[in-house]
Amino acid sequence: AGRAGNRIGRRGFFVSLEGIDGCGKTTQARLLVERLARAGHDPVVAREPGGTQVGDLVRGVLLDARQLKMRPMTELLLFFASRSENVEQVIRPALDAGRVVVCDRFTDASFAYQGHGRGLGPEVVQSLAELVLSGLQPDLTIWLDLPPESALSRVRVRSGSSNPADRMESLGTEFFGRVREGYLRIAAGEPSRVVRIDATARVERVALDVYEAVVTALESRG
Ligand code: TYD
Repeated sequence: AGRAGNRIGRRGFFVSLEGIDGCGKTTQARLLVERLARAGHDPVVAREPGGTQVGDLVRGVLLDARQLKMRPMTELLLFFASRSENVEQVIRPALDAGRVVVCDRFTDASFAYQGHGRGLGPEVVQSLAELVLSGLQPDLTIWLDLPPESALSRVRVRSGSSNPADRMESLGTEFFGRVREGYLRIAAGEPSRVVRIDATARVERVALDVYEAVVTALESRG
């Protein structure tokens, strides 16, 4: 492994799914994994935050609706704590074994939510990614793009009135507008890694677009 990044010394393929809350990422991750399995791949699913025992405990802290005063830097470090466990226990071993890894969010979420949304800036996120993950990056990132208003109304339908939004989901349209802007910047800066997909379309249409993007990237890696 080491600083040289993700392409050296490993055979697997790393796909992440990104987008603001309510963009349909979790459904699309499931559909992508089903399709990949049908096509004869043996995909590994990872999710952030969470996915390991420590990661799930950290997730509980991060989403606790009562912790409204958590400092943005604390939040960022907790996401990286969870990610560190995920990378070392789940993602790297699977990539080393040559498998396709589908991860529901990765470092781009920290750029978009903490770097841009919370205003910590991109540099601190970049430094942590180097320090904690040796710069491991997905080979392909699917960005499911949806306007913040539509995304929030989906989140509200999902939560219902008896089930209040979690700490992140309670942030409102202005915050999610900034997060979306963060994803826009990432996509503009790394057009060969990040594929934007219109998430306003029907679930099956989006699933086809996602699968096509993954197959194209898998084929072109040689
Ligand atoms: P996630 O489980 O993906 O939520 P959902 O499936 O409902 O979209 O992520 C939980 C929340 O954590 C979500 O509001 C996004 C946020 N988040 C960050 O702010 N930074 C991060 O680095 C990650 C991975 C998630």
